[in-house]
Amino acid sequence: GASMTLFEAVGGEPTFRKLVDEFYAGVATDPLLRPMYPEEDLGPAADRMTLFLMQYWGGPNTYSAQRGHPRLRMRHAPFRIGAAERDAWLLNMRRAVDRLDLEPEIAGTLWDYLERAAYFMVNVEGDP
Ligand code: HEM
Repeated sequence: GASMTLFEAVGGEPTFRKLVDEFYAGVATDPLLRPMYPEEDLGPAADRMTLFLMQYWGGPNTYSAQRGHPRLRMRHAPFRIGAAERDAWLLNMRRAVDRLDLEPEIAGTLWDYLERAAYFMVNVEGDP
């Protein structure tokens, strides 16, 4: 119904876990993105991203209970994110979203947000 959150509509936590697992499987072999991640194990980063997205879309607030206010732009400040990094991030995320086989309208809503958020995270002007 109209009061259902996107979190519920897509099937809750397992769907977000799958989305982020697929995304990080791509990051693991991405020559531009992989070196940006400070930790050797991508598992904890995947967990933070999963919990953040669950919370954003109306699921439990576990992310903020563990990490505080998201302040995502501030948290990305240590990383150099230009157009190339943004586009690599979006390419991996697009593949991950497609693998969920969501209803087109829901996939569109999710994608619009992810695309806007990725543009918002850019913190380096111009092209490399
Ligand atoms: C953290 C890269 C966009 C959500 C990180 C980290 C890196 C990174 C290197 C540190 C890994 C870690 O958690 O230890 C990038 C790049 C992006 C991008 C290159 C390209 C635009 C986004 C977007 C979102 C997002 C669009 C949300 C929709 C997160 C979250 C964390 C994180 C939730 C963990 C924050 C924390 O609690 O510390 N990102 N990111 N990122 N990113 Fe991104």
